[in-house]
Amino acid sequence: MNIESGIVYSAAFLFLVKYSRLESITNHIKARLYQRELDNALRVLRPPASLVDFCSNDYLGFASSARLKEMVLAGLDANPGYTTGSTGSRLISGNDTFTEDLEQQIADFHQEEAGLIFNSGYAANVGLFSSLAQRGDTIITDELIHASVIDGARMSHANKYIFKHNDPGSLEEKLKVAKGRIYIAVESVYSMDGDEAPLNEIAELAEKYGAGLIVDEAHAVGIKGPGGRGCVNLHGLQNTALARVITFGKALGCHGAIVVGSRALRSYLINFARSFVYSTAAAFYTHLSVKMAYQYLQETDHQVSIEKKISLFQALSRHLPVAISDSQSAIQGIITCGNERTKGLSLKLASHGFDVRAILHPTVPAGKERLRVCLHTFNSDEEISGLINTLQNHL
Ligand SMILES: Cc1ncc(COP(=O)(O)O)c(C=O)c1O
Repeated sequence: MNIESGIVYSAAFLFLVKYSRLESITNHIKARLYQRELDNALRVLRPPASLVDFCSNDYLGFASSARLKEMVLAGLDANPGYTTGSTGSRLISGNDTFTEDLEQQIADFHQEEAGLIFNSGYAANVGLFSSLAQRGDTIITDELIHASVIDGARMSHANKYIFKHNDPGSLEEKLKVAKGRIYIAVESVYSMDGDEAPLNEIAELAEKYGAGLIVDEAHAVGIKGPGGRGCVNLHGLQNTALARVITFGKALGCHGAIVVGSRALRSYLINFARSFVYSTAAAFYTHLSVKMAYQYLQETDHQVSIEKKISLFQALSRHLPVAISDSQSAIQGIITCGNERTKGLSLKLASHGFDVRAILHPTVPAGKERLRVCLHTFNSDEEISGLINTLQNHL
């Protein structure tokens, strides 16, 4: 073979290698999607439907509140110099006194020393867990903890243990064998079933074993505790928990999250939480709407309105021939079992005008698939009874 044909052959060989690698990537993508389809678990984005909302996290109706919108617009008028973008991460050009004051106001509201805003609850949990725990430390999580905590814990390289859902005995077994500094992660109100963690017992165990307790209050703030402060305040644990993650995208109807805790913790996160350090800060509008949402929360007793809807749903759903989650929160789980059945029921409800989402395996364990009903202050009593009647006819 002469030099020229050698060059042609090796170019052809490299082309084939490249082509088959690219083909293998495409096949991998298609195969995984196909498997999801076979499992009846393929996720697709849907445009908003004009159905009765029994699925959003806007429990108190803040996201669509005319009053809150008015407050935000007045805030924009009062700050004509605001920019549409924050222009950088908080450590470079994206910081301002408005955001720092807001962090302190929120921390004061939750009776904590300090707070640090993140761009989302996901970013807050990932930043918190990945930076706090080090190799040799241990993170112990409830088996139903949110994916953002799991991802943060994975990134930390710490040892990981999972305890049985809401079971202090199971937590203690893990605490007995845990090494290094120990962190316990729980949600005060669980996102799938709306049930509450036994926070007092968990806090006692944290104290007994010298563990740092971290409570994700995503689904509790606005709904639980005095003035909607959440379950940590409800149980008077504000000086006991190491940190609380509070998200703005649920009952507060906004976007973003804050970690509240000690001043030292805030400073630690500013230095080591990579999801904080390496991300552009949210724009003024986002922080302004959070500030106004906290003001609106204190303006009216929203908790009484949501509690009425929860009581009505519980009274009516008692007669359904399926298990209902043990929840005193805005999230109610109807355990329907099986991806196909649960998806079918969700579609049937949609055809009757109700938007109730199916929570499928692998998001929940196989056999625990459910309809997740989110109640809102704006759901009328007729809508709630209509939903239950429709379920009664199709279960
Ligand atoms: C318990 C819990 N933590 C954290 C998050 C993430 O919050 P965000 O939607 O602001 O990223 C969620 C949202 O699904 C959640 O349910």
